[in-house]
Formats: sequence, C-alpha cells, structure tokens
Amino acid sequence: MAKYKIAWLEGDGIGKDVMDAARIVLDKIKLDAEYIPGDVGWKFWCTEGNPLPERTVEILKNTDCCLFGAITSKPKEEAEAELDPGLKGKGYVYFSPIVKLRQEFNLRTNLRPCKAFPGNPLNYRDDVDIVVFRENTEDLYSGVEFHPLPKEVMDVLLKNHPRMAKFKNTSLDDIAVSLRIVTRRAAQNIIKDAFEYAKKYKRKSVTIVEKPNVIRETSGLMIREARKIAKDYPGIELWETNIDAMCMWLIKNPQDYDILVTSNMFGDIVSDLCAQLVGGLGFASSGNIGDDYAVFEPTHGSAPKYAGKYKVNPMAMLLAVRLMLNWLGEIEKAQSLESAIAKVIKEGKVKTYDMGGTSTTLDVAQEVAAILR
Ligand code: NAI
Ligand code: MG
Repeated sequence: MAKYKIAWLEGDGIGKDVMDAARIVLDKIKLDAEYIPGDVGWKFWCTEGNPLPERTVEILKNTDCCLFGAITSKPKEEAEAELDPGLKGKGYVYFSPIVKLRQEFNLRTNLRPCKAFPGNPLNYRDDVDIVVFRENTEDLYSGVEFHPLPKEVMDVLLKNHPRMAKFKNTSLDDIAVSLRIVTRRAAQNIIKDAFEYAKKYKRKSVTIVEKPNVIRETSGLMIREARKIAKDYPGIELWETNIDAMCMWLIKNPQDYDILVTSNMFGDIVSDLCAQLVGGLGFASSGNIGDDYAVFEPTHGSAPKYAGKYKVNPMAMLLAVRLMLNWLGEIEKAQSLESAIAKVIKEGKVKTYDMGGTSTTLDVAQEVAAILR
C-alpha cells in the first residue's frame, strides 16, 4: 500500500492541464502515493445540479489530502440557465465547490506564499518574499446573506442598533445584507498560525491587515486578539496596517513586508495583489489547511480560453505541490522541488507565454522534473 492517499481533483478548464504537469513532477520525485481521481466542477453542476457530488466528498474523507486544479464558477442566473433541462426549476442552487470544501472540512487557514524567484521577468521586484495568512471560513464568506431582507430580521436590527434607523424606510426588497462574521476562535487560530510560521521560519514581522477605524467590531476583534497573541512571540514584531493603506504600501515598499495576516475578504484581495508582485496567477499557489486535512491548489481559475491547450504556466500548480509536500512532512522533496523550480526560472530557457516564452505547460514540468533527482 502506498504511504499516502491523495485526492486528485482536476476540475474544469486548465485544471487538467496543470494537474498533468503536477503528475510529471510527482512521478519523478517518487512520492509514495496513490492518486484517487474525483468528480468536481461545472460539468457536474450541469448534469447533476451539484458541482461537488457527495461521492467526491467521500473520496476526500478517505484520503490524506487533496490536490485541486481549478473550477469554473458563474453567477446565480447564468448557472441556472446552464443546468440540464430536466433539472431546471427544481431548486438547485450553484455554490462554489472550493468554498464548500473549506467550510465542510474546516480548512480554516489559507496560506499563500508570494516569493519572487530571481530571473522571473514578471517580478515587480526581485526581493519580495511575503506569506499571506488568510482566514478561510468566516467573514463575508460565511454565506449569511439576505435579499430581500426578511421583515423579522429588519425588525431585530432596528431594535438592536441605532444606526439601522437610517434604513427603516427602505423597502425590504431594496435592501441586501451580507453579514461579516468573525469569531474570536477563528481570529485566534489564524493569528497564531501566522506567528507560529514566523517563528518556525525566523521571520521578523507579522502585519495584521484590517480596518478597525471603520469596521470597529469585526476588524477590532482581529486587532485586539493579535495584540494579545503577539505578546507570546517576543522576537517577532506586530505591525498594524489598514487594508487600503496596505495596498499602497505593497506597491511602494513590498520588500519591507514579511508575514501578512487577515480575514477572509481582505485576504482574498491582498493575496491577489501580492501574487502579482511575483509574477501573477501563473505563480500563485495556496494551501487550504485544517487540523487534519488540507487542499492545495493554484489560485488561478479555469481560464476557459486556454483549456486543453497546454499553454498556461504550471508553476503555480507546482508550487502548490511543494506546499503539499511540506505539509505531508516530505521536507527534502519539497526543498528539491523548490530548488528545481528556482533553477528553471533562473535559466529562463523553458517558459510559457506569460513569461514571454513559447514552451508548453508540460515542457515546463518536464524541465523541472529533469533537474529533480
Ligand atoms: P482565471 O484565473 O481563470 O484566468 C484569468 C486569466 O489569467 C487567464 O485568461 C490567463 O490570461 C491568466 N492565467 C490564469 N492562470 C494562468 C496560468 N497558470 N498561466 C498563465 N496565465 C494564467 O480567472 P477568470 O478568467 O476570471 O475566471 C475563469 C473561471 O475560473 C471563472 O469561472 C471563475 O469563477 C473561475 N475561478 C476559479 C478559481 C478556483 O478554481 N479557485 C479562482 C478564480 C476564478
Ligand atoms: Mg481570489
């Protein structure tokens, strides 16, 4: 029996292209693993009314971790329109499989390393090395939303908060509410993860990115917890920056930042910004990490126009594989993969279109594999 069982979810579009690249590298590195394919994505939404069938969730429950390609997501009305005729009007509602997996497996930490590899022509600067910790299950992604606003909810809000009075004459159909929910426990978990990482990898600072001057309660809770937790890590500085200013500082002086920690929505935004500093979507990997399960993925989507063309950059996927190897405790394999990736980028001989080259997705994977022992 193999040492690891890994769920293999290609998903839609370029998901398969980059997962094929991942397999070339995993085979070369001789990870002792069995890969178990699962159905996920748009096709299953259209034909079954469920983009994440229960049989796939079962596969995940019986594996050590999951490697995920990409999925296509569309807004409510468009999704409904593409359902098979027999399923229309039966109450199926589209949801994002990756968001669902994060919730269902409590993959509470989203880890997004953004490191500039020397020689990458897409680097904004060569000395950026930021790691973003994004809370992955709460905040505006909790999914507690109303439209129209039920009268009962309106009444409760009016009764409990003076600022609600401003909306009291708005018709219930003309008001939409999405709740930003932050629990102390989730705040503590993500902040501790960031500090533990900083300690382990000898980083000098953790910057908490919020907006407590305006969003006093939820951002305020994050900041207050961060200040408390920081006391347990004397060698590591806590910096506090508002999300809007952070976007500006990251363009001005990205090399000054080390670890960023933030809530779900701000993390979504700031991690895309950081990704672009180090080469864009072709280089952005992420780990969705819980206490006993994790899903690793490139952060790009399904890029339908490139699907099956083997044109896109597999580096984001390969860096996700590196994160997975690290998480599994295969530290040497993770390090040799990172070195091989760095070498291929530095040499610059084999590169995909986004880096100004003409190599295919699989050429790049083979070049990385060739360096691996
Ligand atoms: P996208 O990330 O799929 O692609 C946007 C553009 O970025 C592409 O057209 C391409 O020019 C470039 N790009 C993406 N990945 C690349 C790579 N590996 N190498 C080189 N260039 C790359 O985002 P888009 O077009 O907004 O969304 C397409 C679909 O993907 C949508 O249905 C969206 O909902 C979904 N999506 C899924 C995500 C996921 O699976 N986690 C994340 C983001 C979007
Ligand atoms: Mg995003």
